[in-house]
Amino acid sequence: MTPSNENELTQAALQRLEGAADPRFEEVMRSLVTHLHAFIREVDLQPAEWMAGIEFLTAVGQACDDKRQEFILLSDTLGASMMVVMLDQLRAAARTGQSSQAGKTLHATETTEATVQGPYYWDGAPDLPLGADIAPGVRGEPAFYSGRVTDTRGQPLANALLDIWSGDGEGVYDMQVEGAGMAARARIRTDAEGRYWFWSIKPSYYPVPVDGPVGRMLAGMGRHPNRPGHIHMKVVAEGHVPVTTHLFVAGSPYIDSDAVFGVRPSLVVDFESHPPGKAPDGRAIERPYWSAHYDFHLQPEAA
Ligand SMILES: [Fe+2]
Repeated sequence: MTPSNENELTQAALQRLEGAADPRFEEVMRSLVTHLHAFIREVDLQPAEWMAGIEFLTAVGQACDDKRQEFILLSDTLGASMMVVMLDQLRAAARTGQSSQAGKTLHATETTEATVQGPYYWDGAPDLPLGADIAPGVRGEPAFYSGRVTDTRGQPLANALLDIWSGDGEGVYDMQVEGAGMAARARIRTDAEGRYWFWSIKPSYYPVPVDGPVGRMLAGMGRHPNRPGHIHMKVVAEGHVPVTTHLFVAGSPYIDSDAVFGVRPSLVVDFESHPPGKAPDGRAIERPYWSAHYDFHLQPEAA
């Protein structure tokens, strides 16, 4: 088919997919072409605007290297990453029989909600014992974290893995410091009752990198680049759907306007302040400190 007008152009582009070998690839590309053409027509895209878009995407690619992933940042700041995370958790809920009746919206109500992984996960954090300080020498105010990992019926999950990472008390991650080793990261396992506890610092809000094309995009949109204070964790237990999530500091600046749309109300945690003295784990602590308590609930995989 040789298109003679803009409607036929879309049809012609879709027809060329008929030879696709992979039906899922065809489905994705069919939708992408349909929406892309509709977008161009809806905004009546001008040639100079089209070229500006090409140059922007080129710059996003050129900003990527082995440490920096500007495309993920673009996806995050457009809410695309969080959309994928949300749909994936709904899909897991449906697969494990947690879906409600057909036709109703699915809610993974009891399962700990997932959020974006972000760019600062570093595989291979040290295995530390329960109660360890995972951020010795890291700037920031000390914080004691505790809680349990259970399944969605409340049964404790022994030996569940918490793979934990955060920035320092000023919101800077080890990976952002040239030549720095791992800091404020650890892998900790729950005890026989599914309990966990460890020390780290109270995380601070921080801006996503703004010195590249995504930063210029945010500025153009009139948006701030900040994420509210949070600590990341992947929670993994045998026979259960793993969850990649954060705990957010209640009252942190930007808690209502996370630049990557990662906040979910169920993940916002009160950090309680304490004077120096005897900490909940019996440790004598000479500085004021914070404590945060959170129970994680994992979905059993379908039998
Ligand atoms: Fe983060």
